[in-house]
Amino acid sequence: MLRELDDIWERAQDAIKTAKSLQEIEAARVRFLGRKGELTQILRKMGSLSVEERPLVGQRANELKERFERALADRTAVLREQAISSRLEAEAIDVTLPGYPVMVGHRHPLNLIRAEIEEIFLGLGFSTAEGPEVELDYYNFEALNLPKDHPARDMQDTFFISDEILLRTHTSPVQVRTLERLAPDLPVKVIAAGKVYRRDDDATHCPMFHQVEGLAVDTDIRFSDLKGVLLAFAREMFGANTRMRFRPSYFPFTEPSAEVDISCFNCGGEGCRICKDTGWLEILGAGMVHPRVLAVSGYDPEKCRGFAFGMGIERIAMLKYGIRDMRLFFDNDLRFLSQF
Ligand code: PHE
Repeated sequence: MLRELDDIWERAQDAIKTAKSLQEIEAARVRFLGRKGELTQILRKMGSLSVEERPLVGQRANELKERFERALADRTAVLREQAISSRLEAEAIDVTLPGYPVMVGHRHPLNLIRAEIEEIFLGLGFSTAEGPEVELDYYNFEALNLPKDHPARDMQDTFFISDEILLRTHTSPVQVRTLERLAPDLPVKVIAAGKVYRRDDDATHCPMFHQVEGLAVDTDIRFSDLKGVLLAFAREMFGANTRMRFRPSYFPFTEPSAEVDISCFNCGGEGCRICKDTGWLEILGAGMVHPRVLAVSGYDPEKCRGFAFGMGIERIAMLKYGIRDMRLFFDNDLRFLSQF
């Protein structure tokens, strides 16, 4: 029986050594140690042995069983290792391959220009103010010295929501709201940027567009302050050689009023396509705040005065970037937007 045990051990070692997969190892375990396994059979037959033989065979059988189990475990570990590394090889990741490009977004050109404008005025000591886009007739017109039947309302033919509520046609109502909020404190120095709405729609006018409003009120504000502030702005925005001209104009909420042009940054005033051969580019409307606007907002026009201006952000952006059609800003075409 000892001989038989040795033969089994030979075969078991062989089976383990030649096993090439975890399945084959398991098959080998069953073949020798399973319920009907070769070694199990021997152990079962122990009862038929003599009293002298039994301890000898028993000891040997147990020893072999232990060795077999150890060999089995070792081989299993090796095979498992191999299985893992061959899988890793098959699914290998080449970290040197180029990655997928990630699209990085950026700000809309109008927001870039708006930020640039705000930055310049913040540097001049202005702070920012805000007002609603859905506005009361009172702030959009009435308090700005445009009573109900005033003909100047026609210039801004409007989206009305009810008789007294409309989409604001300019950012000027923020002047009144700001003065009401701050009265009677001085000085007032704010800019207010945002969306405005008018019944316009062509290559250079959109029903929704953006303006930046400026307002400064103090005891001794003069027209020359307005000129100085606007010139400083224009030179920051369009270049240090920029010149400026004021043309008399009319707004019910400023007196006197002016339309402001800058010398063409493209040709320097010689005349070109951008300035339509005039040498000048119109960029904003401005003037000294009308005493009535100050009065309805809680300020005494005898004791203070101010200037105000309003400019279109699209217009500034179109000039700066040489864009001919305003509608491009709102088409959301990435071929256009990704150029900025
Ligand atoms: N609100 C005027 C417009 O939209 C511009 C303006 C603002 C003019 C402030 C004078 C003072 O046309």
